[in-house]
Amino acid sequence: MSPCPHHDFSTAFDPLDLRDPFTLLAQARREQPVFYSPAIDYWVITRYADIKAIFRDHQTYTAANTITPIEPFSDAVKQMLAAGDYSPEPVLSNNVPPGHTRIRALVNRLFTPRRMKGFAPAIQGIAERGVQRLIGRAPVDIVAELTYEYPAYVLFHVLGVPEADVTQVKAWAGNRIKLYYGRPTAAEQLAMTANLVPFWRYVVDLVAEKNAEPQDDLTSDLIRLRDGDDSVLTLNEIASCMITLLVAGHETTTAQINNALLHLLSQREHWERLCRAPEAIPPMLEEMMRYDPSVCTWRRRAVKPSTIAGVEIPAGADLLLMLHSANRDDDVFPQPDMIISSRENLKDQLAFGYGIHYCVGAPLARLEMRILLETLTRALPSLRLVPDQAIEYSRNISFRGPATLRVTW
Ligand code: HEM
Repeated sequence: MSPCPHHDFSTAFDPLDLRDPFTLLAQARREQPVFYSPAIDYWVITRYADIKAIFRDHQTYTAANTITPIEPFSDAVKQMLAAGDYSPEPVLSNNVPPGHTRIRALVNRLFTPRRMKGFAPAIQGIAERGVQRLIGRAPVDIVAELTYEYPAYVLFHVLGVPEADVTQVKAWAGNRIKLYYGRPTAAEQLAMTANLVPFWRYVVDLVAEKNAEPQDDLTSDLIRLRDGDDSVLTLNEIASCMITLLVAGHETTTAQINNALLHLLSQREHWERLCRAPEAIPPMLEEMMRYDPSVCTWRRRAVKPSTIAGVEIPAGADLLLMLHSANRDDDVFPQPDMIISSRENLKDQLAFGYGIHYCVGAPLARLEMRILLETLTRALPSLRLVPDQAIEYSRNISFRGPATLRVTW
């Protein structure tokens, strides 16, 4: 296996084009499972076993690069961030032990399945309110009318963020994703940065308010765990956790619900089965995460030289882990391009990552997706896609989900 940067996959692969990644990735898994992408200066890893081994070995492959902008920040952007006191620090996704271990242990105590279960009645209410708003209005774009905002309403309830701020925070979060995971021009980068500074200020103010007057929500729980002790957690670390959660906690879930709806309604026998047997929803959601994970890639950085699938990876190299490719690897999931929710090893799918950074919000995401699908199949069993619509995906390296989905019933 040659690490030659000029192999065909290197040029054929456009890391920001998420429209139809599966054919090329299946070929890469067979022919060149690790290849270099000059477009972003990353090594692309496509096989399940290699990706899982990388996740497992967090000493060789750190998560330090997971929030690194694909398009490096210009000096003007850096100046604007400094002038705006923009000071989030690595806390979860892009942190490394021992700092990550300390903070993750605290955040784990917030997102327990038990605590999540307590939120279920409120989440049910949010789902019903959203689905009721659709009644009598077909056809609609279900993304614009339901799935874009639903996970944000859920997350805001859980974190104790005012509902009135959903529209603004969604706009800020979408902006942050494009800035870090897309490829903006210099002018776009500056405009997006101008939008990032008020997002950070908002989060810092929110943490200060909760610190002065804790309430019954997870942000206040984190402040209580801190108990005024900076060696446990600083207020800046809490604000950094909050800005992470206020991006990671809804864009991902929106896109995952959209991916599931697209496939269940395209191969409608699956939708019909869920309408008849709602107890089949949880394994089907798990299969949807395997089949088309919304966080389709994630990143790691090699801190020392290593060999992956026979390819020598130098120290300092950035790796793009193709989670959607791992989940379609037929060494692990036979007939990978078929939707089969009775797979015995569904729990091995990698949509939530693996190892020390495994998605902390997974219990919440699973709960809110289940509740929404139960509510939708019950209220609108005749739901179907409007035929012949174009399915569009935004250009970025990691977040995959249809931007619009026209449905009727
Ligand atoms: C279906 C929805 C979701 C998907 C597909 C998803 C996917 C992921 C993935 C792939 C990772 C990286 C794991 C790794 O590096 O091993 C991750 C980490 C993370 N996710 Fe999620 N996520 C979802 C929902 C959520 C929600 C609802 C929240 C918050 C409430 C959340 C918060 C986080 C955080 C904070 C991390 C970083 C954890 C750490 O580094 O310790 N995610 N997620």
